[in-house]
Amino acid sequence: MGKDVIVACDFASAEQVFAFLDKFTGRKPFVKIGMELFYAEGPQIVREIKKRGHKIFLDLKLHDIPNTVKKSMSVLSRLDVDLCNLHAAGTVRMMEAAIEGLTRPDGTRPLLIAVTQLTSTDQESMENDLLIHEPIDEVVMHYAANAKKAGLDGVVCSPLEAGKVHERCGADFLTVTPGVRFADGDIGDQKRVMTPAEAKRIGSDYIVVGRPITAAEDPVAAYERCVAEFCD
Ligand code: C5P
Repeated sequence: MGKDVIVACDFASAEQVFAFLDKFTGRKPFVKIGMELFYAEGPQIVREIKKRGHKIFLDLKLHDIPNTVKKSMSVLSRLDVDLCNLHAAGTVRMMEAAIEGLTRPDGTRPLLIAVTQLTSTDQESMENDLLIHEPIDEVVMHYAANAKKAGLDGVVCSPLEAGKVHERCGADFLTVTPGVRFADGDIGDQKRVMTPAEAKRIGSDYIVVGRPITAAEDPVAAYERCVAEFCD
């Protein structure tokens, strides 16, 4: 898969997500389904969106004992998602088990990426709550290297970290980056943002864009603008 724009469909119900997706009569965007929509509507929402011709990033961030993650990933692979994720904090053994579970009998599997440290975790909370005392940048890079060692395809990271991740883990190791805003748009609650064009320059493989598209007056035009800036 090449560079692409993934639209974060952070909606609370099937009705809302379909009202949004119905606007896309031309190119079908790659969509991200998160916990809120998945827990509200169940696996059927994944099947229905897939049936409409969209690629799917199922953002459920698994983190449990290796055996449970393996069995759960096996269920997700049968849902025919294109990309899914887990927490690198679950250890290399958990990530290896995830790959095993995700691999279908014919040897194919969805792409699997890791969350390193959530962007809501800062140095202070990592030290005080998690008792991790290394600099957060090094923790992120170490978790990315662990993901690579376990055979994963990439990580979710800030566009500002994408270059460093590629340096440490190789050009083929995918960087999937949220925190994208248009130069003339609202930043909202995101702190460190980049435009789609900057994310492209810095080497992100996929950008995850939510509100700049979902809350736009013309979501299709906003999506096409992202694609033009990032992919073309
Ligand atoms: O609306 P917005 O463009 O900020 O949406 C970004 C999406 O990426 C949301 O679904 C958010 O949960 C997700 N995300 C993020 N920052 C991370 C990881 C995921 O914004 N570090």
